[in-house]
Amino acid sequence: MNKRMWGGRFEQEPDAVLEAINASIDFDRHLYAQDIAGSKAHAAMLAKQGIIGADDAKKIAEGLDKILAEIERGEFKFSRALEDIHTHVEARLKELIGPAAGRLHTARSRNDQVVTDLRLYVRDAIDRLDPALAGLQQALAEKALEHAATVLPGFTHLQPAQPVTFGHHLLAYVEMLSRDRGRLTDARKRLNESPLGAAALAGTSFPIDREATASALGFDRPMANSLDAVSSRDFLLETLAASSICAVHLSRFAEEIVNWSSPAFGFVRLSDRFTTGSSIMPQKRNPDAAELVRGKAGRIVGALVQLLVVMKGLPLAYAKDLQEDKEATFDALATLSLLVAAMTGMVRDLVADEKRMKAAAGAGYSTATDLADWLVQKLAIPFREAHEITGRIVNRASEANLPLHRLPLAEMQTIDGRITDDVFSVLSVAHSVKSRTSYGGTAPANVRREARKWLKKLDRAPRQG
Ligand code: ARG
Repeated sequence: MNKRMWGGRFEQEPDAVLEAINASIDFDRHLYAQDIAGSKAHAAMLAKQGIIGADDAKKIAEGLDKILAEIERGEFKFSRALEDIHTHVEARLKELIGPAAGRLHTARSRNDQVVTDLRLYVRDAIDRLDPALAGLQQALAEKALEHAATVLPGFTHLQPAQPVTFGHHLLAYVEMLSRDRGRLTDARKRLNESPLGAAALAGTSFPIDREATASALGFDRPMANSLDAVSSRDFLLETLAASSICAVHLSRFAEEIVNWSSPAFGFVRLSDRFTTGSSIMPQKRNPDAAELVRGKAGRIVGALVQLLVVMKGLPLAYAKDLQEDKEATFDALATLSLLVAAMTGMVRDLVADEKRMKAAAGAGYSTATDLADWLVQKLAIPFREAHEITGRIVNRASEANLPLHRLPLAEMQTIDGRITDDVFSVLSVAHSVKSRTSYGGTAPANVRREARKWLKKLDRAPRQG
């Protein structure tokens, strides 16, 4: 006779290659705590409903607690022959408490069990990610307040466009992260329903109380359709999509840190704590952590794409393909939390070179728009014409190899005689950023107000990191 849990009608042992392809214990062991919590809730409900005896339920609960402690102490033996975490726990329970263990799986299947575990796992992961993301927002907002008036070049097409403030730039990421948190919170809301009690796919004839297990496990309600409960993974797709977007945001910022810390830019410096040296080039200071934040975003997007492909075309209800939902999800969630921690560390660590930033901010005729705006505001010239005049002035300055504010007034007047001395008051980078007071603009006053608003808001939320 076959010794497997499902072995009743099987006579031969499984082929080694079946065992190799089928076993998920190497990764689903991560679900042990959720699996045990789910089993405890299920057993308590079975007893309360009179489906199993109170004595058996007590033995089961005590056995499960022992197993939890064994796993946490690293004493538990895992073996591929036992396939997955669910069979491991049940087999050990049988060793510990005998035949009563066999009653635990009444009115339940591994199909509803595994997805219950997974929903609990993802919920926990989101609950840890959210405060970590808030911690990163806080680090950014603090740095933004410190650099509310520090100017650096704002780029479009990576060409100097208009000066902006460093604080404003950092607050852009605070906004992005706020939407990322919103997406994860939203995913959490939708995933927090209990599949437990859907059994294999059709529900059960036992008088179970799905409300009771749902509430014992902190779910808002039981899922309403048993087929949906065992076969849907859109909660993972949603979480991975939100995680991917967040990782993409972090990778964009990481790329900027890589650029800014290159001596060619020289805008920021990371300390020894966040850089590495080269084994051959003694002068090097490499931003490895930032590069890895940029690079590891690929794993998270990869997880999303992998699961989308697994799910595509999969008929209802459970199919073993669904076992492929776990490894990438675990990896993506662990990776994202590492990326958030690394970014938080780098934001706190980086030191801005305000002089370099300011010099670069003024290069490339970045205040040309300010000149055009002055022509419109002071001389009532239509913007299109002002743009044309400014273009010619920039050309003249460029030929003379001078920045705009050094081009003599007489030169400007040969292009347009109406220009007066007053124009020089708007050509500095400091004036440029100061004037951008429109809502959402880069002016230091705006940045101070926004940074303070965020710090106040973040201070009220529970946080870590
Ligand atoms: N290890 C399986 C998974 O991850 C558990 C469910 C197995 N169910 C089954 N009918 N074989 O999906």
